[in-house]
Amino acid sequence: MTAIFDHDSSTADSLRSTVGGSAIVVPSLDGLRRHLETNLAEDAVVLGPSVDLSAAAALAGSMRVTRPSLGVILIRRRLDTSVLAEALRAGVREVIEERDMSGLNAAVGRVRDIARAMREQVLGPDTLEEPTSKGRLITVFSAKGGCGKTTLATNLAAALADRGRREVCLVDLDLAFGDVAIALQLFPAHTIADAVPLGSALDASAIASLLTPHSPGLTTLVAPLEPGAAESIPAELVGRVLDLLKERFDYVVVDTPPAFDDQVLVAFDRSDLVALLATLDIPALKNLKLTLETMDLLNFPRDRWRIVLNRADSKVGLAYSEVEKTLGVPISVQIPSSRDVPASINRGVPIVLDDPRHPVSQSIRDFAESAVAGSGRAEMSGTHGIRSDRRGGLLRRRARTS
Ligand SMILES: Nc1ncnc2c1ncn2[C@@H]1O[C@H](COP(=O)(O)OP(=O)(O)OP(=O)(O)O)[C@@H](O)[C@H]1O
Ligand SMILES: [Mg+2]
Repeated sequence: MTAIFDHDSSTADSLRSTVGGSAIVVPSLDGLRRHLETNLAEDAVVLGPSVDLSAAAALAGSMRVTRPSLGVILIRRRLDTSVLAEALRAGVREVIEERDMSGLNAAVGRVRDIARAMREQVLGPDTLEEPTSKGRLITVFSAKGGCGKTTLATNLAAALADRGRREVCLVDLDLAFGDVAIALQLFPAHTIADAVPLGSALDASAIASLLTPHSPGLTTLVAPLEPGAAESIPAELVGRVLDLLKERFDYVVVDTPPAFDDQVLVAFDRSDLVALLATLDIPALKNLKLTLETMDLLNFPRDRWRIVLNRADSKVGLAYSEVEKTLGVPISVQIPSSRDVPASINRGVPIVLDDPRHPVSQSIRDFAESAVAGSGRAEMSGTHGIRSDRRGGLLRRRARTS
């Protein structure tokens, strides 16, 4: 995989066309560093002609120590021996003249060959294909729209990432109207729709190239920008994407549309925990009750979901205890209502990062920590429960129940 950066985005784009394949353009040097932190399959970095030599040298110098298999290729408008010497001294693998596009391609090929050889030496040739650890998947769902799924999913993912302590990928499965990218003010180069043409070539490194980094520890796979593209994304593909992400990340958090569609069932099927959201209004509670009944019909284990009551302090005439009685199940988390929530979304910064002490942040962080603490228990182990029914999965079980 190759990451490309230049201060001038059109230059970066033309470098990407030259390199081809699944190369991606990152928006800044900081973004590049974050991208490299979360994308361990990245073999090559191409820094365009506008990146100054000292910044390139700093990046190459630190990568030489922390990530020796990664090769940094520097493009210069003109090559002279002093630039060449300084760059190579700092650990830049190759310096290429801007016009020498075939030279760039060959350099990327060489860098990737070396990276592959180095990894095979350390890990053995087959080890790369093997998942080293299984991440945990948390799906946020409510059958009624506007309950706060995206708010919870984005903040939960940020709380789990905990400023780089864990590797988290937030996936927007609201394929037609997903707004994770807007809520986090991301400018994605790729979306989940780009996984469709990859077909059987979809593997861990291909997925990595579709991700959009957000902040330390947190990266995203965003929904298509065109609502129409949703129809072209089959549930099986979503399943494969989630499986690959689970192999790579400590946590995968999934935001969903307000409907039990096939893609959502595929996510449920792979979920170690489902957060079912409701608010204190009769339609939301009715839908939650129906959701719980549907989950029972699908044999989804009861110890794998939690009820999250959003805007729990709204004075709307429904008491919390009545809600628990009506649903017949306990509420695990209450998130208070606050005007600071839409304000944080408008700023594009999750409130847990913007104001960690805010009561809303506190309740979401507590929920995140309880999910992590539960990871040692059966319900978060990922080793048994719904996935152990290898013959079925919820999609087929739904077919049987309907
Ligand atoms: N705790 C809260 N306090 C105040 N406002 C909130 C809270 N949670 C969510 N909101 C607001 O409610 C609105 C809907 O939230 P959000 O987009 O997260 O819901 P959703 O379930 O993802 O909606 P959709 O079904 O359309 O995807 C947003 O404007 C959000 O800012
Ligand atoms: Mg939403």
